[in-house]
This record gives sequence, structure tokens and C-alpha cells, in this order.
Amino acid sequence: MRYDALVYGPLFCDLIFTELDEFPSLGTEIFAKEFTIAIGGSAIVAAGLQRLGAKVGLIADLGNDPFSQVAASLLDGLGIDRRLIRTHRQPLPQLTVALSYPHDRAFITRFEKPAQPHNLAAILREHPSKHLHIGSFLAAYDALNAAQIAHEVGTTVSFDPGWDEAALLDEQVHQVAAEVDYFMPSRSELCYMMGEEDVQTALDKALSRMTNGTIIMKNSSQGVLAHTADKTITVTALPVTPIDTTGAGDAFDAGFIYGLVNNHSLEDCCRYGAVCGALATTAVGGATGTPTHEEVKTWLSKLPS
Ligand SMILES: Nc1ncnc2c1ncn2[C@@H]1O[C@H](COP(=O)(O)OP(=O)(O)OP(=O)(O)O)[C@@H](O)[C@H]1O
Ligand SMILES: [Mg+2]
Repeated sequence: MRYDALVYGPLFCDLIFTELDEFPSLGTEIFAKEFTIAIGGSAIVAAGLQRLGAKVGLIADLGNDPFSQVAASLLDGLGIDRRLIRTHRQPLPQLTVALSYPHDRAFITRFEKPAQPHNLAAILREHPSKHLHIGSFLAAYDALNAAQIAHEVGTTVSFDPGWDEAALLDEQVHQVAAEVDYFMPSRSELCYMMGEEDVQTALDKALSRMTNGTIIMKNSSQGVLAHTADKTITVTALPVTPIDTTGAGDAFDAGFIYGLVNNHSLEDCCRYGAVCGALATTAVGGATGTPTHEEVKTWLSKLPS
């Protein structure tokens, strides 16, 4: 199978509580007025790409536990190709409980690492693909030489680290970020990783460590910035009223990668991402609310320039 893009990273069953009046404190119970189960993690990037019309392969793992079964049926409902997903004959409960408020959220996640990482070199040989996305620091640890493997077969690579204090300071994660073509952190991830409060200093420091890459820094309602050795492009956010910001970053990644595999300019890739990221905040769950290619085209005209 020849894919436009491969997405490598754990998927999660997201249990999302919304319409919460307050934040829970120890010894108390709060009640959510709404609840949704959605697919999370790397599957949000795959779902976004799928909805846009790209051929996407998701490299992930499922077990035989109830949460994996729910995740599998959510993937099927979204029409996501499961050929590259290994289903283990043991429980692999990968789930996130999200308490979601209109402008921010808190998560509790359980991640179960499979005994063996995927063989990326073999997958890329068997499934030549234009692009490989490493979705989260969790996948980076199992893909330390991913950029080298991918570049040998002419595949470009992106990496979205996600938030984890230890991982963001880990030299191995820094190395993965340095070697990819597109490093895609959020503003807070980038600043934390570089130990800098000033964004420009963090951007310059991160770029100076990269072999030949571009930094795509996501900045929530402030939009996004693409930083290369010779230019910085800023794209303003699409004005929307967010309901649930879970997965906006992954939805952005999907739009950006869709632009890449369709040979769009760096600025247009950011614009595609900005539309997908913004629309993902208007529905509960990162994989819902993301647009089709036709819908992106309509929304692009509404993006402030
Ligand atoms: N409130 C918003 N209004 C408009 N656009 C938004 C909003 N939140 C996010 N976006 C769009 O989505 C992109 C990614 O969102 P964000 O910066 O929150 O990523 P993130 O911190 O990586 O998120 P996540 O925690 O989901 O990974 C932003 O760069 C922006 O273009
Ligand atoms: Mg993110």
C-alpha cells in the first residue's frame, strides 16, 4: 500500500467530561453535564488526514481490553485504515480522562507501552509514503532514528512532542526534534524545552540545533508561526468560539501535513493547519469537527491575513 502519510504514535480512548461548573478538589465530587467518548492521540492526526481525503496509515497498537475495543470501533467509524495497527492478545488500556473547560482542560492518561516497538524501516520499505509524522514524545522514544530511516527512502518527517516535562528536557527527544524536517511544538512546549521564556530566543535556539528543518510553533488562539533559517511566517488563527480545545494541536498537524503531501507552500500548509485546528475546537473531541478538503477551502477565505 502506498500512503500519502504515515502517522506513528499511540492512540487513546478519550473520555471527555464537558460542561463542568468548577474544578474538582480532593475529597469532593463534581458532575459533568455532558460526556463524550472519542478517539485520541495519534489517531486524531490520522482522522484529520483521512477526512481531508489523504491516504493515511496509522502505526499504533491495540490490546484485547474493552477500551481497545471501543477505540477500534471508533477508528472504523472514522474509516481509518487499521492495516498497520497491531492488535495484541493482552490488555493494552490506553486511555485519557479529560476535564474540558472552554479555554483549557486537564488530563489523566494511562499509557501501556507494547513490548516491541514497530519496525519503521520495514514499514517504510513495504509502504512507501511521502511523509511520516511522529505524534508525541512517546513515539519518539521508539523512533530515535526515524528521520534517518525516512530520509533514506525520500520520506519527509514531522514531530509533535506533546507536553511532558521530563521528555521535553530529554536529550533523546531533542535529538529527534533536531533531525526532522518539521518540528511542531506548541509555544509552551518549545519554551520549556529550550529553557527560555522569550519565544524568539527559544525559536532561534531550537532552529540552530536542527540539521535542516523548520519549526512550526502552534500558539492556540494566537495562530501559528513557521520559522526557517531565512524566513518567519505567521498565520493568524481563524476566529471561532471554542467548545473543547482537546486535540486542536493534532488537528492542526493533520491540516499542515495534508498541505505538505499535496505540495502546497509552507504558508498554505500553516493555513490548512490553522483552519483544521480552529474547527476542531468547535466540537468535543479532537477528531470531530475537523473539515473536509472542500470545507477547508471555504474557511480559508475567512482566515484573517
Ligand atoms: N481558540 C482557538 N481559536 C482559533 N484557533 C485555534 C484555537 N485553539 C487552537 N487553534 C488553532 O489550532 C492550532 C493548534 O492549537 P494549539 O496551539 O492549542 O496546539 P497544542 O497546544 O499543541 O494543542 P493540543 O494540546 O491539542 O496538542 C493553533 O495554532 C491554532 O491555529
Ligand atoms: Mg500539542
